Amino acid sequence: MHGTTLFRPTQTCTSVLIAEDSLLQRKVLYRHLSSLGYNVLVGENGASALELFVEQQPRIVITDLDMPVMDGYDLIREVRRQEIHYTHITVLTALTKKESTVRAISQGADDYLIKPFHPEEMKARLESAERLVQIQSQEKIILLMAKLTDYRNPETGYHIERVQHYSKLLARILCDQGHQELNQRMISTIFTVASLHDIGKVAIPDEILNKPGKLTKEEFQLMKTHAEIGGTILDEACQEIGSDFLRTARDIAMHHHERYDGSGYPLGLAGEDIPLSARIVALADVFDALSSDRVYKSAFSPQQCREIIASKKGTHLDPDVTEAFLTHEEQFWIIQAQYRDT
Ligand SMILES: [Fe+2]
Ligand SMILES: [Fe+2]
Repeated sequence: MHGTTLFRPTQTCTSVLIAEDSLLQRKVLYRHLSSLGYNVLVGENGASALELFVEQQPRIVITDLDMPVMDGYDLIREVRRQEIHYTHITVLTALTKKESTVRAISQGADDYLIKPFHPEEMKARLESAERLVQIQSQEKIILLMAKLTDYRNPETGYHIERVQHYSKLLARILCDQGHQELNQRMISTIFTVASLHDIGKVAIPDEILNKPGKLTKEEFQLMKTHAEIGGTILDEACQEIGSDFLRTARDIAMHHHERYDGSGYPLGLAGEDIPLSARIVALADVFDALSSDRVYKSAFSPQQCREIIASKKGTHLDPDVTEAFLTHEEQFWIIQAQYRDT
């Protein structure tokens, strides 16, 4: 027999905040969650729960909806406003109150439990909440890796931020035009993981990465490997963890230098074989290269940028993504001005 007690998954010190005005319910919840090994914080209404939340930033919140002083909806809104890291929120709701559940979820709750709760169901839901919180933490660590390339290559200033914002804007425009693959979640994923598009540059030697002049043919060949290196690293992470977030990160890192006509690298994919997220970041990256000063060139004028991008429609760049840019060009220049390198 293995010493299973040593590995009991419920032996955790995760903090769970309860907001509940009924004294009886509070006691039941407190006892149950404590017995599962959670560190339980208790508020008797939204306001006192919020105070505890701000002070201790628990990763999981379970809240009633109807409470005096501050109700559950306001608590959810405030938690979303004041959270430092992602918080999993479950609402406790009566079976008869479908609309209130829907309202709570649309305000930012992640899950709901019908009252009176079933202890085993509560346990299972909490475990799934913990898994989500953990994935979010892992994602955060991955994003910090993006900063590594920044430190290596200070020359490019706010390049990463601009590419993120251009990509988000393109995704938003295409989504509004009814592009099936895009929705609110995908747009925010693209925004976040676009920061990782050049992560593979960590493997490129300093002399090449920061070379002031034009790269030789051999150096350029080496520089090009950053796409495959980044894509491979993220693919491994994706195989391990398997989140949509990592899958999109991998697609972007691997394919942001593919070209619509198949002449790009590393795989020479063409058309819609290139993931949409990568076609979006490709345009964002090209526009940024054209509109910024680089060690080897100065920025092109808006008119030159427009002409060059228009000329790449359907060859280097996806035609729909190019149109999205051309029809909303002024908004890209607003972002450019906000994140201009000094
Ligand atoms: Fe790149
Ligand atoms: Fe880039």
